[in-house]
Amino acid sequence: MEQIKNYINQHQERFISELMEMLRIPSVSADSKYKDDVLRNAEFVKKSLVEAGADKAEVCLTPGHPIVYAEKIIDPKLPTVVVYGHYDVQPPDPLDLWDSPPFEPVIKDGLIVARGSCDDKGQMFMHVKAFELMMKTNTLPCNVKFMIEGEEEVGSSNLGNWIRENKERLKGDVILISDTSIIANDIPSIDVGLRGLSYVEVEVTGPNRDLHSGVYGGAVANPITILCEMIAKCKDENNHITIPGFYDKVLTLSKEEREELNRAPFSLDEYKKDLNIDDVHGETGYTTLERTGIRPTFELNGIWGGYIGEGAKTVLPSKAFAKISMRLVPNQTSDEITKLFADHFNSLAPKSVKVKVTPHHGGEPVVTPTDSIAFKAASMAMEATFGKKPIPTRGGGSIPIVALFEKELGLKSVLMGFGLDSDLIHSPNEHYGVFNFLKGIETIPMFFKNFADLSK
Ligand code: BES
Ligand code: MN
Ligand code: MN
Repeated sequence: MEQIKNYINQHQERFISELMEMLRIPSVSADSKYKDDVLRNAEFVKKSLVEAGADKAEVCLTPGHPIVYAEKIIDPKLPTVVVYGHYDVQPPDPLDLWDSPPFEPVIKDGLIVARGSCDDKGQMFMHVKAFELMMKTNTLPCNVKFMIEGEEEVGSSNLGNWIRENKERLKGDVILISDTSIIANDIPSIDVGLRGLSYVEVEVTGPNRDLHSGVYGGAVANPITILCEMIAKCKDENNHITIPGFYDKVLTLSKEEREELNRAPFSLDEYKKDLNIDDVHGETGYTTLERTGIRPTFELNGIWGGYIGEGAKTVLPSKAFAKISMRLVPNQTSDEITKLFADHFNSLAPKSVKVKVTPHHGGEPVVTPTDSIAFKAASMAMEATFGKKPIPTRGGGSIPIVALFEKELGLKSVLMGFGLDSDLIHSPNEHYGVFNFLKGIETIPMFFKNFADLSK
């Protein structure tokens, strides 16, 4: 541990400046105008891995954005850790809410502020630097493979195929991922579950063209009104989702499991204060931790139609749109939920409108084991570096590939993340603590050591 700390102390300035260099690349996967930047970011990751000591490193092209693969095999008989992360980021919009430009990173009050600083460039780069540390100090105790993708934020649609085509070279013993949060900097935790996702876009069409709202209004369906009514019908007064069959496969936790989940430190007052809300809102009968951890959701992500420019325009619009996401929990599956939603939504439409439902990406929910060597290795590593045993928690977000790893490679994941829920991922002013970045670089080599020792 001394050796690790010394190396970090000597090199931390450079680690941070290298991360800042990568944060200048606007690798927005959702927007095709950034395609070249995404590729440039893949090259950057590859170069960093080579410089850190990887034998093989490759930018693998896909029909979408590239996947960076690299490895260091020290002895085929030793265990192999497969590190997964993503170098793509969410769009930075709305730009005017950033205090400094999203792709011009700055350090303010110990926080690295930039799009992707936490999710996931900063967290992914901890693994590159921890690998460098282990290589340069001759302490890498097992084999390591890196798989860093550029499409996580858009559903990882090409990674599945790539994994199937590269099963042989992806052979390993565990997947290690830092792309989640801890409870607080003095309360370490490890997510042992993630929700799945079903994401759809809906289009409601009324008349074949925009109409004068006085000449036609009152006699022709207004698609925006109808869309709102249809959406409102998807939940009842207890915030229970009304899509028939939606909850059929939801795994219910035992009383003990729920109690355990609710033992995690959490202050509802602080939560409300942080968000500046007077009350929380969710499914009756469940706590906030349960609502985000073990229950599925139905959320509007965007809704639009008609005139939204300056002033007033009297118009009865032809179309209305919405983007809807449903977070899923074990044992729901995204294809099935998408279909249940589409059937229900179609059935809600009056004859006066036409409805189109277009599925976007999906992802399956996961729970990861807590009785594995890998979990123990992560738990011990965090205990050593934070001075406290990490608490198992459920993450409300999704990492679609985790379920696929298990299905295609038979590999379980460990979600050893170092972010904070307050890091504003996907929002303006996303940031990542220098403390968290360095703590990750310190903890990862401990994980490797523990994992190698426990595997003996
Ligand atoms: N890193 C997040 C997921 C996450 C964040 C999990 C915090 C747990 C705690 C990931 O990059 C992400 O944002 N995933 C998307 C899914 C994707 C299909 C767009 C999500 O959860 O919305
Ligand atoms: Mn992420
Ligand atoms: Mn994300």
